[in-house]
This record gives sequence, structure tokens and C-alpha cells, in this order.
Amino acid sequence: MAEKPTHTVRLEPVGVEMEVEEGEWVLDAAFRQGIAIPHGCREGRCSSCKCLLIEGDAEVSQYSTFALPDYERDSGHVLLCRTYAFSDLTVELLNYDEDMMRRSIAVKEFDGVLSRVTTLTHDIRLLEVQLAQPLKFWAGQYVELTVPGADVTRSYSMASTQGTPDKLHFIIRKYPQGAFSSLVDTTLQPGTPLKIKGPFGNCFRREGRPGPMVLVGGGSGMSPLWSILHDHIASGEQRPIRFFYGARTRKDLFFQEELAAIAAKLTDFEFIPVLSHATDDEDWQGETGFVHEAVERILRQQKLTGEIDAYTCGPPPMIDAVLPVLQVLGVEPEHTHVDKFIQASNTLDLVH
Ligand SMILES: Cc1cc2nc3c(=O)[nH]c(=O)nc-3n(C[C@H](O)[C@H](O)[C@H](O)COP(=O)(O)OP(=O)(O)OC[C@H]3O[C@@H](n4cnc5c(N)ncnc54)[C@H](O)[C@@H]3O)c2cc1C
Ligand code: FES
Repeated sequence: MAEKPTHTVRLEPVGVEMEVEEGEWVLDAAFRQGIAIPHGCREGRCSSCKCLLIEGDAEVSQYSTFALPDYERDSGHVLLCRTYAFSDLTVELLNYDEDMMRRSIAVKEFDGVLSRVTTLTHDIRLLEVQLAQPLKFWAGQYVELTVPGADVTRSYSMASTQGTPDKLHFIIRKYPQGAFSSLVDTTLQPGTPLKIKGPFGNCFRREGRPGPMVLVGGGSGMSPLWSILHDHIASGEQRPIRFFYGARTRKDLFFQEELAAIAAKLTDFEFIPVLSHATDDEDWQGETGFVHEAVERILRQQKLTGEIDAYTCGPPPMIDAVLPVLQVLGVEPEHTHVDKFIQASNTLDLVH
């Protein structure tokens, strides 16, 4: 069989070069070669991989115009997760971070078996997956999980850390119509084999930073934040931590005992649950409203000193509300790490 033509992609301003085959997305080629390029959804929806094409012949397809509006496409911007190369390319990375490039891990495939499912709330489960081999990843990253017979693949963030590299934990929210998540408790029982591909994601814990750490999550957005928090604890580093968690009602909260134990152990840690639907709950003494409102109110009151690192993970509407608040509070964009749980599957709204 004839070999596919390959081209060289040069990444500026870092000066890194890599190969890409014709018919292979540039971002996938980078993963294959262990080169870290900023990314999020990997399917043309989030704009995290947006770059400027300086030179070469490339096609961008199957993307959302929210991620790449026409005026940006016309000015030479591309989404590397949706770019095919037809010649050698030079692209300028717009939001790269040296720490991320330095800590890149080549993406690989792994076999695993679901070993345990624990009920955390009425619609959230903790899944434990035993791998045949250890998977190296940074706390806060995610993998693709595939259920072989059902042929469905989705992204899920690890809730565990490198402390157990061959046993991954995932916190998954069930959607009744969800192709993957509705299989939890039915097809997905202990003993079910799974395919795992990864690691992916830039929203991993940055080490050795002295200022406060602000975690903001909602629903199953707890998963990567739980990993980041436990990785921080294992590192022995000391820094103030404010963990804001949005939920609808008290029955959507979990890990309350574990969080109380963490608060008792760390010197400056506060877990701040924020309930959006607690108006009828007379016994609720905590924060109410939307989580981004509590972040703004409480961080303004507390006036934490030092440069904040923020990590925010969960549903896109929550993240879209939190990001401007973090910006107003003076958190630098390069210290704001985001994992948007963008929905997969609907390809109808993409430019082809
Ligand atoms: C980087 C990344 C990390 C992620 N990490 C996690 C994680 O740790 N835990 C986790 O639970 N999920 C996570 N997700 C989301 C996950 O990948 C799936 O999108 C989610 O589980 C729904 O998939 P599904 O196949 O069940 O639903 P789909 O078949 O994709 O959707 C079918 C229907 O389910 C409902 N639905 C699905 N998603 C939503 C939603 N977000 N809001 C409202 N309704 C919805 C809608 O009715 C939708 O029409 C992550 C996503 C990304 C991109
Ligand atoms: S990673 Fe390319 S648009 Fe999301």
C-alpha cells in the first residue's frame, strides 16, 4: 500500500517541528508525537487550539463558527484540531504556555475493566477503572472512554491522581438520553471492558506556585478538581485554597465528609458549596445563587494576597459566567485554567 504523503508543521514562536500525514488532523499528529499544543474539545467547538497560519496550504473543516468565526478564518486563523495539511505549514501558537509544552505526554491507548461503581448522588456516580498498564497523566487531565460493544466514545476527566496510575477514578453525571452516561448502572457494570485513550487536556495543576488556588466547579466538574486538590495535598505545598462548588440543592452535594476532613488537615482551605435552588430549604445555612456570584462576592470580601491560580471545570454555561468574574477579580488569563465539558455528538451545527 502506498504511504500517505507527510508534511512538516513548524510551530512558532517555540520553533518545534513535527510531521503530519495527509488526512490526519494536525492536533492528532501532535498528540501522536507527544507534542503539547493548547486544546480543549478536540472537535472544533471550543477555540482553545486556535492558531494563525503563517505559511502553507491547509483546509479547516467540521468546526463551529462560534469557535472560528468567518472573519477570523478570513484573517488566516485555523483550529488545529480541524486542520488538514496539504503542504508544509508554519503556524503561530496564540496561547501556548511553556509549562504545558514542557510537560507533554504522548497519547496512547489502554485496555481497562470497570471495577466498581459507587452512587454519589441521585445522578452522579464514581466509576473505578482498572488498567492493564499504568497511564501517566497530570492531575486535572482527561481521557476518552469507549464502550466497545456500544461503540460510543466520550471524554471524562480523572478524579484520581498519579498515586494510582493503573486505577483511574471518574465522576460521571448521568443524562437519561445520554449515549454514554445512560449506560452507567445498565451496560456499565463491574467487569465491563473499556478502551481508554489519553491523556488530553491543559487544565492540569501547575506546581510550585505560592499564591492562592481558586477551584470553581459544578456537577461532575468535581472530577478534575478532586484530582487537582488531592495532587496538591500529596505535593505537601502550602497555599490558601478556596473551592467553590455549584449545585442545585443539598441532594446534589457529595464528598461532604471527605471535604471536612481535608479542611481539618490543610491550614487555609475553605470549601464553599453554592446552591442555586435552595429557596425552600430552611435548614440550608450556606451560600445561595449561582456559583460565579459567590466567587465574586467572597473573593472581594476576603481580599486574598498573592497571584491567584484558578481552575474551573464543568458545564459550559457555568464556565462562561465564571471567566469574566475571574477576569474582573484580576486573575491573569495565563493563570486561569479551564475544562469545559462541551457536549459531543451533534455534528449538524458544524461547518463542513
Ligand atoms: C474535556 C471534557 C471533559 C469532560 N469530563 C467529564 C467528567 O469528568 N464527567 C462527566 O460527567 N462529563 C464529562 N464531560 C462530558 C462528557 O464527555 C459527555 O459529554 C457527557 O457525559 C454526555 O455524554 P452522553 O453520551 O451521555 O450524552 P450525549 O449522547 O452526548 O447527549 C445526549 C443528550 O444528553 C443530554 N445531555 C448531555 N450532556 C448534557 C449537558 N452537558 N447538559 C445538559 N444535557 C446534556 C442532552 O439531552 C443531550 O441531547 C467532559 C467533556 C469534555 C469535553
Ligand atoms: S480543541 Fe480545537 S476547537 Fe476545541
